[in-house]
Amino acid sequence: MTRPSLRTITASASLGLAALAGVAIVASGEPQAMRKPPTVAAERLIAEGRQIFRFDTFGDEQLWTSVLRMHEVIATVSPETALAKGLKVDVDALPADLVALLAAGRVDLSDPAVTVELIRLNAVVGVRGTVSSTAQLTSVGITCALCHSTVDNSFAPGIGKRLDGWANTDLDVGATVPLSRRRSTTRPRPSSAPGARASTILATMRSTAPASSR
Ligand code: HEC
Repeated sequence: MTRPSLRTITASASLGLAALAGVAIVASGEPQAMRKPPTVAAERLIAEGRQIFRFDTFGDEQLWTSVLRMHEVIATVSPETALAKGLKVDVDALPADLVALLAAGRVDLSDPAVTVELIRLNAVVGVRGTVSSTAQLTSVGITCALCHSTVDNSFAPGIGKRLDGWANTDLDVGATVPLSRRRSTTRPRPSSAPGARASTILATMRSTAPASSR
């Protein structure tokens, strides 16, 4: 709605319901003209929603960390592999010196420690992790953005600015979620033959999804 028509409506409303309009002004504590336009509240809500969509795990570390122990697997995965499986890197989350090193090809993308560092920088789209002072990944969770965001590849394939709400059609969930069974020990177990279990996981996901989404 444009401002003139809003004013027109307000004006006719106060003509017809002068008493009521007076009450409204008193109740709000400020004249109509000084109130913030509705767009301000809407923008705040959008910003809050974006934060949640991008960064809120809703506590799912309980599954990804405590049950599936994904943090132990991720700590063995190189950025190269992660990118090949469709994970995305948010270039805006990287400090300028790292961007410069990456551009110069001076970051070892076959080193899993780089993956952990990217997670620490909150640069892996849809993945939230906690990294200890000794650079150990101690917990991991996922957000809506893992599957519902991608990047514009403006820096390199898989690395760029976030595009929220764009399905990540490159993501290989079967390979990204290679653990399907509860681990009874805390011993790190690198992802041995994860592919073999991917079909089981996908079958489980399909069978537990609502009929409308199959
Ligand atoms: C592991 C990947 C994954 C994650 C994480 C995920 N989604 Fe989805 N979501 C999907 C897939 C896949 C579909 C499409 C299902 C289909 O088409 O049947 C979907 C569908 C949807 C839809 C329906 C879209 C439509 O057009 O009908 C909404 C809304 C949605 N997701 C919201 C969310 C929100 C909010 C979150 C975070 C709390 C989230 N999703 C997290 C994979 C994911």
